Amino acid sequence: MKFFIDTANLDEIKEAQDMGILDGVTTNPSLMAKEGITGAENIMAHYKKICDLVDGDVSAEVISTDFDGMIAEGEKLVKISPQIEGVKAIKYFSDKGYRTNCTLVFSVGQALLAAKAGATYVSPFIGRLDDISTDGLGLIADIRLIYDNYGYETQILAASVRHVMHIIDCAKIG
Ligand code: G3P
Repeated sequence: MKFFIDTANLDEIKEAQDMGILDGVTTNPSLMAKEGITGAENIMAHYKKICDLVDGDVSAEVISTDFDGMIAEGEKLVKISPQIEGVKAIKYFSDKGYRTNCTLVFSVGQALLAAKAGATYVSPFIGRLDDISTDGLGLIADIRLIYDNYGYETQILAASVRHVMHIIDCAKIG
């Protein structure tokens, strides 16, 4: 089971890295803003600092909603470091050999499409599903079943984790 820290705070990332159990970092422009990092150039520079701190995969997020915009943003992100995943335009980037994380997954259908397109990771937001009286862990279990049925190698990166039992239950589900 891999552990990813969900933050853009360099001190927190360093602390987790020093524990020796960190497999990667998930971050995005909202988490950057919490640290006071705004503007495209500053965000890119901060992603670079994160990549320099950790050994594992670092998720960087595009914010465009159209294909051309996603590709243009993703092409810049993948140049920061081999640890960065191009996100969203999954097929384009997976065909080119870049690792991708399809985030903001709320349904099995989204997860299936992402795997079909060759995503390295999908990130189902389990806490936010629980928040709206839906079964976040049930989604993890359904995705696991379907990926196993068809041998998809896409890894399930449970996101929006709220408490330790979420982690334990994800470990049980696999
Ligand atoms: O940052 C991505 C995801 O983990 C968000 O979690 O706690 O804002 O639902 P949360």
